[in-house]
Amino acid sequence: MSVRRLAPDALQPPSFAFTPENLAWAQMIIAKYPAGRQASAVIPLLWRAQEQHQYWVPRAAIEYIANMLGMAKIRVMEIATFYSMYNLEPVGKHFIQVCGTTPCRLNGAEKIIKVCEERIGEQRHVSADGNFAWLEVECLGSCCNAPMAQINNDYYEDLTPENFGKLLDDMAAGRPVKVGPQNSRKGSEPLGGAKTLTDASLYDGSVVGSWKARFEADEAKKAIAAAEAAKAAEAAKASAAEAAKG
Ligand code: FES
Repeated sequence: MSVRRLAPDALQPPSFAFTPENLAWAQMIIAKYPAGRQASAVIPLLWRAQEQHQYWVPRAAIEYIANMLGMAKIRVMEIATFYSMYNLEPVGKHFIQVCGTTPCRLNGAEKIIKVCEERIGEQRHVSADGNFAWLEVECLGSCCNAPMAQINNDYYEDLTPENFGKLLDDMAAGRPVKVGPQNSRKGSEPLGGAKTLTDASLYDGSVVGSWKARFEADEAKKAIAAAEAAKAAEAAKASAAEAAKG
């Protein structure tokens, strides 16, 4: 496990405060917990602070959240330094997390890592233009689209050195990029399209629909039989009353 420390003092901002929108959001999150249990909101508040602050958590944000939740600063510091989802140093405009676990590795993750090394430099360092930083991480749960990388909040999958390089070029230039598979794959379907459940009649609603229609017909028959039985009982009652009069 790597050592996780706060960024050097020279990089730390002098203060931190939520924007009015984020403050209102934080108060809504805190209100979800019973009185005295506000500390339970620490994880989402740290995450929102990271999103607000160029995707990393400065010391001032840790202290601000500790004050807001009535927690000891060291408790919030422990959480921020424990979970690797919190970045403690600047990560550039686009933070790239390349999956280096077995399925991605077998499918070419090393070539993606090489692109990062050549274009950005070592892990955990921001590129000279301030656009990128990268990190090799464990499985991100998108193994069927290996190799893949998470960049900020989105997944980019089915990477090759070529399409990954172009992705970085487009991001650096501020051009729109395609999230998800970078080839013709749709979601996590096999390349070339689905190979199972291709018979539309199995899932077009007709099977469920026919069952429902039969159920409704049975219910209608029962209702008619019940109405006829009630009518016959009424007629029998009326005829008995007539006979009694005579
Ligand atoms: S191994 Fe890379 S996403 Fe699972």
